[in-house]
Amino acid sequence: MKIIRSLKSMQAHSRQAVAAGHRIGLVPTMGYLHEGHLSLIRRAAKAADVIVTTIFVNPTQFAPGEDLEKYPRDEKRDVRRIKAALQSVSDETESLGVVYIARAEEMYPDGFQTWVEVTGLTQSLEGSKRPTHFRGVTTIVTKLFNIIRPDVAVFGQKDYQQAAVLKQMTRDLGFPIKLVVAPTVRERDGLAMSSRNAYLDEQGRREALCLFRALTTARELVRSGVLASNDIQREMRAVIKATCPTAVIDYIAFTDFDSLNPVKEIAGNTVCSLAVHIHRVRLIDNMKLR
Ligand code: PAJ
Repeated sequence: MKIIRSLKSMQAHSRQAVAAGHRIGLVPTMGYLHEGHLSLIRRAAKAADVIVTTIFVNPTQFAPGEDLEKYPRDEKRDVRRIKAALQSVSDETESLGVVYIARAEEMYPDGFQTWVEVTGLTQSLEGSKRPTHFRGVTTIVTKLFNIIRPDVAVFGQKDYQQAAVLKQMTRDLGFPIKLVVAPTVRERDGLAMSSRNAYLDEQGRREALCLFRALTTARELVRSGVLASNDIQREMRAVIKATCPTAVIDYIAFTDFDSLNPVKEIAGNTVCSLAVHIHRVRLIDNMKLR
């Protein structure tokens, strides 16, 4: 496995890989890797042979006052974990693998003034609470697509709106890249894995389970025939308060899987997503309801 830190070397490496007849798979991350990220690496290895995992805590997707400075980082451990994940696929996958640790000065050179923005899908849910977030995500992912030129890029269902926005961007800009969205990996008790779970203390960790409990309650209600999103939402709020009395709910939303349009009556492709502050840590999760 090769570690690359410069933009030029990354471009050159990709060009050589393509010339040698390889297919490139990209897994963009902000590091502090957990099993959810590693599952994306293994998924990418099903579709490509040179797997490039990128690590870059992208400043432009954080608003002032968010957690950019304290975002958890552990480069050495990340590199070890990526190597082990590639190795678990095969020796060849490990030897062809790349970790690209991007430099801020190269991602955002002095005088940077070019942005990529998806207009419609970014207005609701996360976008309505974090208005500059997706512009940062689409700009950095475009930049990574241009530098690395992958055939396939893998993203997690955990960030469901992000995946939808990136699919739209890929289509709108005509990137010749197949986007794969992989399922959310959860802790044993159901909490969706997230680098931000590291902010939780013991009590917070216990109470963070309220997101998963609320989502499974929603799914059970739908199975028992309750289809009005308002009724489901009321039950979910009660479950959240029972598990975490101090929880602050940013939103609970019921949307169509593809269009992200709000849904009043649950249908076959309705996703429920929510954002909740647990002891000041903002967590998100989502689940298909049928
Ligand atoms: P990050 O939060 O590090 O996540 C990197 C990728 O891992 C994303 O595609 C995310 O959806 C996926 N992921 C996170 N938790 C997961 C879980 N529990 N199960 C499965 N996949 C999971 O998302 C970002 O970084 C950034 O916005 C990025 C796309 C890298 C752009 O900066």
